[in-house]
Amino acid sequence: MADVWVRKSTTELLQEAVQAVGDAEAPRLKRSLSALQLVSLGIGAIIGAGIFVLTGHAAAANAGPAVTISFVLGAIACALAGLCYAEMASTVPICGSAYTYAYATLGELIAWIIGWDLILEYAVGAIAVSVGWSGYFVSFVRDFGINLPQQFTSAPLAYDVNTGAWSLTGAIINIPAMAIIVFVTTLLVIGIRESARFTSFIVALKLIVIALFLATTAWSVTTANWVTASNPDGLLIPPNAGPGVYGWSGVIRGAAVVFFAYIGFDAVSTTAQEAKTPERDMPIGILGSLVICAALYVAVGFVLTGIVPYDRLNVPDPIAVGIDAVGVRWLGPFIKLGILFGLTSVILVMLLAQPRIFRSMAYDGLLPAVAAKIHPRFQTPYVSTIVSGVVAAILAGLLPIGLVGELVSIGTLFAFAVVSIGTLVLRLRDPDLPRPFRAPAIWLVAPAGAAASLFLMFGLPLDTWIRLVVWLVVGLVIYAVYGRRHSRLRSSGEG
Ligand code: ALA
Repeated sequence: MADVWVRKSTTELLQEAVQAVGDAEAPRLKRSLSALQLVSLGIGAIIGAGIFVLTGHAAAANAGPAVTISFVLGAIACALAGLCYAEMASTVPICGSAYTYAYATLGELIAWIIGWDLILEYAVGAIAVSVGWSGYFVSFVRDFGINLPQQFTSAPLAYDVNTGAWSLTGAIINIPAMAIIVFVTTLLVIGIRESARFTSFIVALKLIVIALFLATTAWSVTTANWVTASNPDGLLIPPNAGPGVYGWSGVIRGAAVVFFAYIGFDAVSTTAQEAKTPERDMPIGILGSLVICAALYVAVGFVLTGIVPYDRLNVPDPIAVGIDAVGVRWLGPFIKLGILFGLTSVILVMLLAQPRIFRSMAYDGLLPAVAAKIHPRFQTPYVSTIVSGVVAAILAGLLPIGLVGELVSIGTLFAFAVVSIGTLVLRLRDPDLPRPFRAPAIWLVAPAGAAASLFLMFGLPLDTWIRLVVWLVVGLVIYAVYGRRHSRLRSSGEG
């Protein structure tokens, strides 16, 4: 029986990079990105529905005002895994995704599992952000007197993240969430992606939105909202009310939920080959964008829970609720428009990444070749882009953000744990491989990155774990039936 642990050598990966030259999707290896540009790229990919939507959900359902502590815990896990991503990206030269890194280090089976798991990060991530987009869109048009019917702007299914109970909302379908996915998919099929200038514009917009929110509302913080009747001893943490509901278990679950808000910094690692001085710029890009976002998130967490009692934040547009609470209503439409742009750009990044991972997997024979098909005119992987877009649009119309966000968090945390372990494995296996960036204290950082990711995963409810396991089992069945038999690497006699 062929060996599923077969892995690619770095030489093979380099050869693939060379073969890819001439292809519109080929990695540009020109070293042109400065540290500042990398930080900007990171912020552009990171700030999105996590801070603008899930903060409210996590505060109301899990952590209370201590959602700020949750943000710090999430940042620590990301920083540790981020250092491993940076090293991996600078060592494994093409198409930087956890899938490629796993193929180079842990073998084909694990690579397949990660590739399949990354669907949760990218396609399902885009669904979560699109649901957040819908919430702000409804709120934005309401400011102009247009009340869109609730039946067509929210999910028919509601899900209680704490009890795991499902219920019907009376709504039929979330059309704005579907529409934004269809719109972004169309842009991607015809080959429109963010230019560097547009990315800078979006980054500036997001930072302005957050700064405006903080500047106009921070004055109205009342510490009574942090020191409510339910937490009389002045701590930010309301007393525990069941597993994952307030108390420390709630803070940890909150961390796993708002971890979603940090997803995207791995986009920085994918540009390792384009950084001017990777050994200096990679840690600055990854850690810099993480630190800036963490500081903003903590500030927003403090202010939002200081101006609105946390139990009132379980809404689709918590930032708007905060603005309304302090009476600066005129600012609402501007901030919402900024958020809509910001969320659109995150959806774009996610739906751009997903087909490219499918394409790598198809190139390796693990998915049918059609997934790698490039459009003759637009030069984009249009089949996988359309398939990802259609499936994402349908699910975006039906599912609630809490459920989808938790699935994205657990899937991404799993990938982070594997990449952290993979980094250590590659150090052991190929210690002399050129590594433009080496993570410091790898013996500490890699195990701690894996442990921190697992720790946050354990904060999530059993239901979410079951969904992850079912998803991975479905993936393994597909691998057994298709990928294992069509693997290009194994059929080339190396298995
Ligand atoms: N970090 C991204 C967001 O918050 C995924 O939307």
